[in-house]
Amino acid sequence: MRVAVIGANGQLGTDVVREFVRNGDEVCGVTHAEIEVSSLESIRGPMAAAKPAVIVNTAAMHHVEKCEQDPLQAYAVNALGARNLALIALQMGAVLILISTDYVFDGAKREPYLESDPPMPLNVYGNTKLAGEAFIRSTMEKHFILRTSALYGQSPCRAKGGRNFVELMLKLAAERDELRVVNDEIVSPTSTAELARQIVLLSRTDHFGLYHATAEGSCSWFEFAERIFEIACVRVKLAIAGPDEFPAKVPRPKYSVLENHGLKKLGLNSFRSWEEGLRSYLASTPSANQPKAIEQSSDIKMKTHP
Ligand SMILES: NC(=O)c1ccc[n+]([C@@H]2O[C@H](COP(=O)([O-])OP(=O)(O)OC[C@H]3O[C@@H](n4cnc5c(N)ncnc54)[C@H](OP(=O)(O)O)[C@@H]3O)[C@@H](O)[C@H]2O)c1
Repeated sequence: MRVAVIGANGQLGTDVVREFVRNGDEVCGVTHAEIEVSSLESIRGPMAAAKPAVIVNTAAMHHVEKCEQDPLQAYAVNALGARNLALIALQMGAVLILISTDYVFDGAKREPYLESDPPMPLNVYGNTKLAGEAFIRSTMEKHFILRTSALYGQSPCRAKGGRNFVELMLKLAAERDELRVVNDEIVSPTSTAELARQIVLLSRTDHFGLYHATAEGSCSWFEFAERIFEIACVRVKLAIAGPDEFPAKVPRPKYSVLENHGLKKLGLNSFRSWEEGLRSYLASTPSANQPKAIEQSSDIKMKTHP
């Protein structure tokens, strides 16, 4: 099968390319240097050359603060970009796979969101991604929309300055004795390697539609950090940051756990628990090979917000 992956050098895109290649597909990876998703004309040429049966769009403007500062650009990339790709995919008879986000929800439910739950984004990023979903649904039938959460992968996240949460924690732990991390945002940290496997699996089917696609289970960022240090055997003082200690500049859902209900109904859910995903990630990461012991304390001065 011929597959075009847009955002091919991104955190997720790199693993998506790798996974399709591993499965024997012919992959054309497209980067931002070659394509601008907010421009229909820019997409046409590379897609005509690639002749894909499947287009995977991992490209997005997803730095939450930058989206808030420039809502028109965020809309152009996340909403109109999705529409442009849907129009091209429709013309070519290709299947379109779009990556969306847990930030389409406001977090008020406080239990895992189903695909059928009404979205209520709190910020520009969530709104523009939701608009992108709607454009695709209203443009073409042969699509998959996968909402995911808190990604981390071997390849750096380009939009967020290169370092994922796991690497940031390990770096800070190596530099400082003490860290403070927020405990009041609950997510499902998802490995891009696992998400890429799920994308390939779904692309082999014609069960088109909207899917929640995250690691199983959930944790706060503090609990995630705690487990990172435990598995990596890193010694650092770790404490919970106070609720108003590091106020978020942009409203975000305090709870954005997704239930992979649609995938499970089809028997196609390939995700493991977030701890298992983290273990696999750390097993293949050099920074995890420096054994130290973990320690906890409440008198710590440093915190990070993802
Ligand atoms: N990261 C997360 O925690 C998270 C959570 C939930 C959902 N998501 C979604 O998952 C997807 C992948 O995220 P990621 O972490 O892999 O992001 P990433 O590392 O920032 O990769 C995004 C890729 O898209 C490219 N790109 C950005 N704007 C573009 C445009 N206008 N036209 C063409 N290409 C463009 C980027 O290229 P340049 O860097 O050269 O611009 C980069 O290669 C996104 O759709 C995001 O909304 C991410």
